[in-house]
Amino acid sequence: MSEETTFRHWHLEIDAEEIAWLTLDKADAPVNVLSVDVIAELDRRLQALSEAPVKGLVIRSAKPNGFIAGADIKEFLKVRDVAEASELMRGCHTVLDRLEAFSYPTVALIHGFCLGGGLELALACRYRIAEDDPATRLGLPEVRLGIHPGFGGSVRLPRLIGPVQAMQLMLTGRSVSARSARRLGIVDFAVPRRQLLRAAREVVRHPPAPHKPSRLQRLAGGAAARPLLAAYLRRSVAKRAPERHYPAPYALIRLWERHAGDPRAMLAEEARSVAQLVTGTTAQNLIRVFFLQEKMKALGKGSDFRVGHVHVVGAGVMGGDIAAWCALRGLQVTLQDQAPERLAPALGRAHDLFRKRLRQPRLVQAAMDRLMPDIEGRGVGRADVVVEAIFEDADAKRALYREIEPRMKPGALLATNTSSIPLEELESSLSAPGRLVGLHFFNPVAKMQLVEIVHGRDTDPAVVAQATAFARHIDRLPLPVKSSPGFLVNRILMPYLLEAVLLESEGVAPELIDRAAVDFGMPMGPIELADTVGLDICLSVAEILAHSLDGTVPQRLRSLVEAGRLGRKSGQGFYTYKKGKPRKARVRHDAAPADLGDRLVLALLNEAVACLREGIVENEDLLDGGIVFGTGFAPFRGGPIHYIRSEGAANLRARLEALAHAHGERFTPDAGWEALF
Ligand code: COA
Repeated sequence: MSEETTFRHWHLEIDAEEIAWLTLDKADAPVNVLSVDVIAELDRRLQALSEAPVKGLVIRSAKPNGFIAGADIKEFLKVRDVAEASELMRGCHTVLDRLEAFSYPTVALIHGFCLGGGLELALACRYRIAEDDPATRLGLPEVRLGIHPGFGGSVRLPRLIGPVQAMQLMLTGRSVSARSARRLGIVDFAVPRRQLLRAAREVVRHPPAPHKPSRLQRLAGGAAARPLLAAYLRRSVAKRAPERHYPAPYALIRLWERHAGDPRAMLAEEARSVAQLVTGTTAQNLIRVFFLQEKMKALGKGSDFRVGHVHVVGAGVMGGDIAAWCALRGLQVTLQDQAPERLAPALGRAHDLFRKRLRQPRLVQAAMDRLMPDIEGRGVGRADVVVEAIFEDADAKRALYREIEPRMKPGALLATNTSSIPLEELESSLSAPGRLVGLHFFNPVAKMQLVEIVHGRDTDPAVVAQATAFARHIDRLPLPVKSSPGFLVNRILMPYLLEAVLLESEGVAPELIDRAAVDFGMPMGPIELADTVGLDICLSVAEILAHSLDGTVPQRLRSLVEAGRLGRKSGQGFYTYKKGKPRKARVRHDAAPADLGDRLVLALLNEAVACLREGIVENEDLLDGGIVFGTGFAPFRGGPIHYIRSEGAANLRARLEALAHAHGERFTPDAGWEALF
């Protein structure tokens, strides 16, 4: 076997100018990741190259979608203990240190995503050149997985661009475009695709002085300034993520504060710190959530359904925002309602969204041009997808379907955004009942990634597959659910919200109720959430669910709605709002009933168990993914069913029984708990 055939991932070519081009094309994989074998092979390549008679080295990717997506996250789940994790990191440090020490110019040539370990590898090169294209994204997203950079990034990025910007990037995990990276100093050049190779050659031929942070940027990392900056960073992280739930950002700040003066020590500590984090439950659960998301993304891959034009009927908040989102994602959209004054607010909101997301006036205008008001409904005949988002009235919806079905293109998808009416009740007016599917978006559409794909008894499975593919096409996460009251997300959320309302009517301060939920890890407490969704909307969903699931709706909710206190939108609900923010009183923690947290969380978990038993979704993972992405359920707990398993189903069921004894039958454990023992 020749030397060359033992390389599967890294391909080397030395051109006539004696420039070495090392190209990563990870074998049998759609994206480049730095798995253990990819790193080992890189090491062999670098060992040979470090002494080679070449003028420079350019590292690039052969994958069209990007440079490198980071370390192989799948391998993180297999790490057995801290010692093994630490050794993995140290091994990688040795390889990147070797690269950094090359005597001739080294260049990372970046297109598409360059994330995590991918960017850390690029940082070990002397120069970075990125393609100036919207698809180019550079970042260190590790904190989102419960860890921090572990391949030397925590040392090299602050050294390159100064600690303030570097720490902010690492602590938020946000990624930046090629141009922003250029402005920050992360890349040396941002050039169009056609100039990439020439730019790399030019840098090797005439190496410029490598980028250095300004004096001011360096000062922020000096021994005197470090504790101050660290305290500031800690305070800003604490606003988003408490340390007991999310230890990684705090570990990163500690690492930098203690060791930034000594790069060698900092590298060793970086490995130790990441090894600790990656084996902890927060990281393991956040990694689980990453893969739940991947599973949901993959659901859309089975269909070759192509969408160019979407027609939305109903320009209310949901219909208007769905239309705007589709136009933002590049589709032609027609938006139908009865009169121009009904369409105007939707177009105004769409303009705001485009301005915020696209920024450049040219792109904003192009998106506005894709979104066409259509009072006569001419788009119906051209659309690949028709989304009905009119008010919740079964007769009106049936009448509409009767009118539009004959005008639709053969094979076009007919979807309803109903949040409460079973598909079986709606499809009767169609000549092909199997073509109706639910696409249940959440409010605000641009923020909530999840879309429930609702299938009724008669829905054609091919139509479900098309709807799922459409959701992916517009970059939403599809969750197939059975048509039943509240589907999955609202059904599981409602007992938790109603328990909060009941607690409030028993005299517990809303601030205490919300704090208990936030302490558990929810992004927002249930009282504030109810106010945000709108108490009238909560009431109507609660009534539908109470009717079909034998529940009761707290009188307090009805009274507030009758008094016109509808929540944030009316300035008053449970809280009073000032400039859209709730005014919260200071309350004493010890005034909370001892079982407050249990009453909220176990109400939610019990309903999750019931949904699993009833087969509302296909399996536990989809339930967990749906609830994390549909409600924000404490991601570091890995989803409700995963949480039940890790806490022990028997233990939680016993606590439910105690609640049923103390507070009533609504807490009676569902029959499904047995299956989780
Ligand atoms: N480790 C392991 N697998 C990875 C991966 C990683 N870092 N990044 C992507 N993949 C896999 C996905 O699981 C998926 O596998 P599948 O085809 O078996 O389902 C495949 O690569 C394609 O990824 P997908 O997410 O479907 O592609 P995308 O184009 O929508 O997004 C990324 C690409 C890179 C933006 C996205 O996958 C991502 O954010 N990855 C994680 C990046 C990260 O956190 N890196 C730091 C690691 S420490």
